[in-house]
Amino acid sequence: MSFTKWLGGAALGATLILMGSSAFAVTIGFSQVGDEGDWRPAFSKDMQEEAKKEGIDLKFADAQGKEEDQLKAVRAFIAQKVDAIVIAPVVTTGWAQVLEEAKKAGIPVFLADRDVEGDKGLFVTRISADFNLEGRLAGAWLAQASKGNCQIVELQGTVGSAPAIERKKGFEAVLANFPNMKIVKSQSGDFTTEGGKKVMEAFIKATDNLKGVCGVFAHNDNMQLGAIQAMKEAGLKPGKDFLMVSVDYVPAMKEALAAGDANASVELKSAIGKYIYPVMTDWLKDKKELAKWIVIPSDLHTAATPGN
Ligand code: AHR
Repeated sequence: MSFTKWLGGAALGATLILMGSSAFAVTIGFSQVGDEGDWRPAFSKDMQEEAKKEGIDLKFADAQGKEEDQLKAVRAFIAQKVDAIVIAPVVTTGWAQVLEEAKKAGIPVFLADRDVEGDKGLFVTRISADFNLEGRLAGAWLAQASKGNCQIVELQGTVGSAPAIERKKGFEAVLANFPNMKIVKSQSGDFTTEGGKKVMEAFIKATDNLKGVCGVFAHNDNMQLGAIQAMKEAGLKPGKDFLMVSVDYVPAMKEALAAGDANASVELKSAIGKYIYPVMTDWLKDKKELAKWIVIPSDLHTAATPGN
């Protein structure tokens, strides 16, 4: 905590950390992945609004999906001597060096949403949903809806990202129990609507209009929404002739579920600033060791079982 941040009663409305008889305003640097899809901008907005409410001075950096931009942003936060850094890492690899630099500078790092590979001693904790569970929930729903008999096409998220890796693993773990459920095509649509549409157009061509296919698992709703467009343009009936399951439960997916174009979506909460900031500010106060993963619950919704 830098001495220049000592307030001595200034900054009304700011989150103050009390240390002995002194109080400090909190400055947090947040390195965000980008603004792909509908879920991520909602998450960014929530982090900014919640910081304002909490009186936290938030320095926000959007990396436009590029890890090198995230590394630059984190180094800039270190140079600015922020009190703590939150990273939502685009991919799981390539973080060790910059995390070491933050540690050397005495700046604690918290992960939000996505995970990194390697030494867990380099960050305080990760606050996020369980992506593997999301994949398992999607797989279990599809197994039940298809009675364990389904040829599936899969739209994967960003290659090397924690949600793409874990959702696939979780989904496949369920499929392992059902010999007549198989992924017949799988490709990355990079978590975007356009990506999902392109990948689905290629699947439609390669499989003679999805012949024999019974289900579509997309690692996020935006790719599924793109896939739905492509299927409709090809004269197919997603949600009716094909079981459609994805992750995020964004407003546009709620509409697709209500319209019968999709069948199920696992909710990934985007309003998670209220979970993340208290963990950070409490830790800054008492430095008590935390579990390395603080899990935010996920739930699956259909048109018949809507969420909020
Ligand atoms: O990391 C979470 C995933 O990232 C969301 O499911 C997806 O929409 C986003 O791009």
